[in-house]
Amino acid sequence: MTVIAQNLVWGVRRKTIVANVSLALAEGETLGLIGPNGSGKSSLLRLLAGLKAPQSGRVEILGRDIAHVPRRALARQVAFVQQNAATDTNLSVREVVRLGRTPHRSALSGWSAADEAAVSAALARVDMVDRRAQAWQTLSGGERQRVHIARALAQSPSVMFLDEPTNHLDIHHQIEILRMVRNIGLTSIVALHDLNLAAMFCDRIVVLHTGAVVASGLPQAVLTETLLRDIFRVEAEICTYTQSGRPHIRFKAG
Ligand SMILES: Nc1ncnc2c1ncn2[C@@H]1O[C@H](COP(=O)(O)OP(=O)(O)OP(=O)(O)O)[C@@H](O)[C@H]1O
Ligand SMILES: [Mg+2]
Repeated sequence: MTVIAQNLVWGVRRKTIVANVSLALAEGETLGLIGPNGSGKSSLLRLLAGLKAPQSGRVEILGRDIAHVPRRALARQVAFVQQNAATDTNLSVREVVRLGRTPHRSALSGWSAADEAAVSAALARVDMVDRRAQAWQTLSGGERQRVHIARALAQSPSVMFLDEPTNHLDIHHQIEILRMVRNIGLTSIVALHDLNLAAMFCDRIVVLHTGAVVASGLPQAVLTETLLRDIFRVEAEICTYTQSGRPHIRFKAG
């Protein structure tokens, strides 16, 4: 297993926000993390990425407990695209993506051909090559999101965590980004609100509700009318695509 979380617990004061979460991902797997607002998706991803320490439980990535891996070494293996991430300095698109190379460079080494190749490939993957000289501050919301994804890709990680990466993206780029995440061969966890996109692109889905895992498995096993009613509080009908066997949710207008 490439990512293992065991009995993660985290909270503030007396409020438990991540309640005994365990999960495991095989190499190359894309796991969808879904759940209503406030269910703990972002908090869980921050624990998995090592940005916060759990009150109990442990996270193992590529065979090592991340509590014992230095931050820089962890950043060579794990990239995290945070929800509503901002870059507040006055950098160009290319300079933001170059930051992704930081964990791979030492104080003495210059900018290498491998660094340049990783940055160029990352910009191409998110369709931003033509915009590389533009100031990040002047980008649209969706363009900013794509640049942050490029920065994570430039990190050349083995594991990628993405918190609502399709936020602000037009439908073409939503599909392109998720197709890329699935096809690139990385082990990834993607928090998503669009349940149909989760059904289309994820190998497995984990459902969080008030900090706890309430369902996990193949999209067709997890996304049931009952779950949509009980956890997401919507009425819907589930259809199945004949070719892929994947579910498609038709929400009822009322
Ligand atoms: N540092 C904190 N202090 C107090 N409450 C917090 C803190 N961090 C998170 N919470 C609360 O924990 C709950 C889970 O937050 P989290 O951001 O993980 O949810 P989420 O599933 O990512 O939601 P969304 O879909 O809206 O992004 C929320 O109710 C949030 O207000
Ligand atoms: Mg969130």
